[in-house]
Order: sequence, then C-alpha cells, then structure tokens
Amino acid sequence: MAEFSKEKKTILSGIKPSGELTLGSYIGAIRNWKQLQEDYNCIYCIADLHAITVRQDPALLRKRTIMQLAQYIACGLDPEKNVLFLQSHVPAHAELGWVLNCYTMVGELNRMTQFKDKSAKHADNINAGLYDYPVLMAADILLYQTDLVPVGEDQKQHVELCRDIANRFNGVYGDVFKMPEPFIPKLGARIMSLSDPESKMSKSESDAGCITLLDRPEDIMARFKRAVTDSETCVRFDPVNKKGISNLMTICSAATGMTFEQIENQFAGKGYGEFKPFVGEAVVELLRPVREETERLLKDKAYLNSVLDNGAQQASYLARRTLSKVYRKVGFYSTDK
Ligand code: TRP
Repeated sequence: MAEFSKEKKTILSGIKPSGELTLGSYIGAIRNWKQLQEDYNCIYCIADLHAITVRQDPALLRKRTIMQLAQYIACGLDPEKNVLFLQSHVPAHAELGWVLNCYTMVGELNRMTQFKDKSAKHADNINAGLYDYPVLMAADILLYQTDLVPVGEDQKQHVELCRDIANRFNGVYGDVFKMPEPFIPKLGARIMSLSDPESKMSKSESDAGCITLLDRPEDIMARFKRAVTDSETCVRFDPVNKKGISNLMTICSAATGMTFEQIENQFAGKGYGEFKPFVGEAVVELLRPVREETERLLKDKAYLNSVLDNGAQQASYLARRTLSKVYRKVGFYSTDK
C-alpha cells in the first residue's frame, strides 16, 4: 500500500486506455512519473471513463486497460509507492463530475480546443461526453486535493479550466478544493511522429511513424530507418527548419542521456544513414526491459487484479473525503450523524 504523507505534495495524472502506449507517452510522461514516486504522493489513473467519449471496441478496451496497468508497472511505477487505479472503479469521479457540471459554463467548454479538434475528427459522434470531458478531468484532479498535474502541452487548457471551476466553487463555498498547477516536463514533452514530424506521435491515428512500447526490435529499427527528415545531411537541432531531425535528436537524447551538442559532435560530417539506425538502436534498448517486464506481468493476472483492487480502495478512500465535503457544502441531506 502506498503510504501518503502530509508533508509531500500530491501528484495526479492519467492516460486513456484508448490506444497503445507509445514512445511519446513513455518519454513525455510515464518515465518522468517514475522519478516523482520518491518525493510526492503519486496517483495515476487509467482513464477508461474518458476513453469511451470516442467509440471503443469493448474487448479491445478491456485488453488495453490491463495492458496499460502492466506497462505502468513495467515502466517502474511501483504499486507499493503509487496509487494505480482504474477510473471506472472509483464512482466518486463520475459523481463529482456531475456536481462540477453545475459549476461549469457552456461558454468555457465551447472554448476547449481539444473538443473542437475531436469533433472535427469524429463528426459522426459529437456526443455530450466528448463535450463534457474536461469537467470529468477536473473531477479527477480535484477529488485528490492535487497540487501538481503532469500533462503534455495539449492538456494545459484543461488544467486551466479545472482551476477556474475550482475557483468558482471555492468562491461560493470556501476552501473546498486545493488549487492544482500543471506540471509540464521540459525534455520530450512532445514526441512527434516519425513519418510526419508536424504531428504528435499517436497510436489512435494508426500512425505509421508511431513506436509503441511493445513493438518488436526489428519493427522499431525499420520505422527509424524510414523516419522523415529533410534534404540536408547535417545532424543539427533546429526545431523550426529541421523538425524531423530535431525530433530524432530529442528521442536520442531521452534514450541515451546525450546532450544535443554531444549528438551533433558525434555525427558531424556523417549522414542521416548513420544517425537514424543509431537512434533506433537506442530506442530498442530503452524499451527492451519494458516490453519483457510487461509480457511477464501479463501472465500474472491475479497480481495485476490485486493491484487494481488495492488502488481502487485507496483512491476511493481519498476521493470520498472530498466528495462528502462537496455534498455537504452544496446542501445534500445526509443521514450520517
Ligand atoms: N485528458 C488526458 C489526456 O487525454 C487524460 C486524463 C484524464 C488526465 N484525466 C486526467 C490527465 C487527469 C491528467 C489529470 O491525455
């Protein structure tokens, strides 16, 4: 069981199990989470309620959920130090989400860029859940009196909305919610697709330039060798004019610990033909232990289920404290003495 300490700040983040975890989610998110586990109270949610805002295949959703848990653990998130749980196992998320709906303005939701992007992409299924997604995310965060929310750039607007909702609620009822801050990692915050360095690496787009955590080494190598670059031959960091190469350098630096300068020096006078497989090898070695450990864990469903049961129990305990306070503040009648 994760021991929570009052002296430590609380961190909460989540990833939807709607696609496989990618190299982007590893470098940009999960790998950093691992470093936080000693210094913070850490809560990580597998956001399955969020996943169904876009139509999912039920069997695949179930499979990806347990795979995502196995991968969290394989990436180094120790269930003894972090609370790892499934959002649908803790009803307080949906419950607080409802209450917060009544403190969120439709004008605010209309401004969310992710909603605009997603409704353009899924024009045949612009459902109310997709619209309301940021309110559920606010509930995820506020339930745990979270201090810091590690997210990518694309989620910053949602964390800001969460703060606005919390402020409005606290303005009416006093200090009920802690004010959370977004926590955006510097390096590798945004890993781009290998085949289209203009867009974020993403499994859901069936992106040919996406690396997932469970990809075989030969597939990883093939994708790096085909990575889109530019017509120069110089390995140099220039995220404006050389997006492909700069993305490969970011990945290389994250995988090897080399600085951009060291990479530039090592490949001075050498072409992309040498650089691309070098990055590929580094990524193969980075992901090898994660893949092997995930495969091992997936054979032990009893253990994974016990992690989820414990996680749900701990998360529910923490979440209920906030939810009861909210219910009392808004005036719901309680039979408790
Ligand atoms: N919306 C986030 C994403 O798409 C996932 C998420 C759900 C989340 N709940 C959260 C992230 C709470 C941070 C905090 O990536």
